Amino acid sequence: MKIEMHFVFLSWLVFATNVFAQVAHNPLTPTDITKAKNLASKYACLSCHAAERKLVGPAYRDIAAKYKAERDAAQKLAAKIRSGGGGVWGNLPMPANPNISPADLKIIVTWVLSGAPNK
Ligand code: HEC
Repeated sequence: MKIEMHFVFLSWLVFATNVFAQVAHNPLTPTDITKAKNLASKYACLSCHAAERKLVGPAYRDIAAKYKAERDAAQKLAAKIRSGGGGVWGNLPMPANPNISPADLKIIVTWVLSGAPNK
């Protein structure tokens, strides 16, 4: 009986750990990802950024890696995208994007910080 209980507990633990790991790694549903990609295209982010390689601006994967441990990264990057600016990745500044709604910005930033998954 005691051994069985251990087994049940361990199975639960393994299951829960996997679920949490997945959520932490990618909090986005496929619908969120499609929305984010459409918005990134609509606001022309993709003319300067790609998920995996540097274009004019840094790769979204590199941005996600750089800010992985920063708790306030989402707010900070949302503000930077709205008002533009440079000096973090090089001398080239990003132009301001004052017309993005806070809701759209939140979707895009969550996607970027998840490494800009394609699906
Ligand atoms: C004209 C080119 C261009 C466009 C369009 C553009 N970016 Fe950028 N972006 C850049 C450059 C250049 C940088 C690097 C700025 C720096 O070094 O601080 C950058 C940096 C960033 C960063 C990281 C900021 C930091 O401080 O680390 C994020 C996030 C980002 N862009 C998202 C976006 C999103 C989302 C859009 C669309 C709404 C967008 N960018 C549109 C050129 C662009």
